[in-house]
Amino acid sequence: MDRAALLGLPRLCALWAALLALFPCGAQGNWMWLGIASFGVPEKLGCANLPLSGRQKELCKRKPYLLPSIREGARLGIQECRSQFRHERWNCRVAAPAAAAPLGTGPLFGYELSSGTKETAFIYAVMAAGLVHAVTRSCSAGNMTECSCDTTLQNGGSASEGWHWGGCSDDVQYGMWFSRKFLDFPIRNTTGKDSKVLLAMNLHNNEAGRQAVAKLMSVDCRCHGVSGSCAVKTCWKTMSSFEKIGHLLKDKYENSIQISEKTKKKMHRREKDQRKLPIRKEDLLYVNKSPNYCVEDKKLGIPGTQGRECNRTSEGADGCNLLCCGRGYNTHVVRHVERCECKFIWCCYVRCRRCESMTDVHTCK
Ligand SMILES: *[C@@H]1O[C@H](CO)[C@@H](O)[C@H](O)[C@H]1NC(C)=O
Ligand SMILES: *[C@@H]1O[C@H](CO)[C@@H](O)[C@H](O)[C@H]1NC(C)=O
Ligand SMILES: *[C@@H]1O[C@H](CO)[C@@H](O)[C@H](O)[C@H]1NC(C)=O
Repeated sequence: MDRAALLGLPRLCALWAALLALFPCGAQGNWMWLGIASFGVPEKLGCANLPLSGRQKELCKRKPYLLPSIREGARLGIQECRSQFRHERWNCRVAAPAAAAPLGTGPLFGYELSSGTKETAFIYAVMAAGLVHAVTRSCSAGNMTECSCDTTLQNGGSASEGWHWGGCSDDVQYGMWFSRKFLDFPIRNTTGKDSKVLLAMNLHNNEAGRQAVAKLMSVDCRCHGVSGSCAVKTCWKTMSSFEKIGHLLKDKYENSIQISEKTKKKMHRREKDQRKLPIRKEDLLYVNKSPNYCVEDKKLGIPGTQGRECNRTSEGADGCNLLCCGRGYNTHVVRHVERCECKFIWCCYVRCRRCESMTDVHTCK
């Protein structure tokens, strides 16, 4: 199948469903919202013209003021995914979309969105977390009538320990609610056991992403008192940077749990000798083993690692050996020219020399 044929969103949806044969189209369409990140000003387009599923369009129409946060959430998630995986074979990118695909409809993720792998788990979690983060920021900024700073903390604190709650504490509750409402597609109304397990997995990973935001809430304080003596402190709760949240989720990804595809009601681990260990709501779950992401697969949108820059001396995932999957690498010499040894000459100019340096750049064969 040719991606160039993807011209309209309904066709994109139909094609993905056919290509992947895993999700009913509604569930797939639920993830078209990621395309919003690449729209210039979605507010101007209005809810009807954005790549949203029917349910999301309804929600968007009722709460159009949330559109900037939806876009910001998508942007945060995509950026963090690419940053966390920049040195790995799967680097959170898909093969370049066909040039004919109109803006925002090219696939951002290919196969990973519905393959039920660890990568799928990470994408769902980081996107759900991004939405919580962006909506909560907007609440705290006073941009929303339905939510604001956490008011339950007002007047609390401990006078004897010399601190009290003040300022604006981030309140993630509304963001969590909205992320659930916007992303969690109900499981009922699906066909086949395969898709049911995958949907349950995706819902679980969405929630794991949101839990990561809640878990990493921290407390910031500011000192008051005579010349910074810190006799009195004002403290407020704040979300962690999204980078920290991405880091925690990456850790969850490394330790993600494979679940059985024969799941009926309750999900359980695939490893028989670990069945007794509980599955916590912050764990990331996957069903299928990942491909090795070494070679390009246009059909699945896997770009492969050919041409990726690798590090000759690293033993890690970015090392040429691992990243290039044993195919070897090419070395090019890159010349840098810069101004150097600059001197101030009285009066009044600066004289520099031109320095050249050579560095080796290695790219996978
Ligand atoms: C709040 O609204 C203002 C004005 O519309 C906007 O510039 C700002 O980026 C918004 N802040 C957040 C965190 O959404
Ligand atoms: C199930 O899907 C059909 C068609 O896709 C729709 O008309 C119906 O309302 C759905 N039912 C539920 C409970 O979502
Ligand atoms: C390559 O890897 C080594 C060892 O991990 C590291 O010290 C070095 O900074 C890396 N070089 C680049 C260009 O990232």
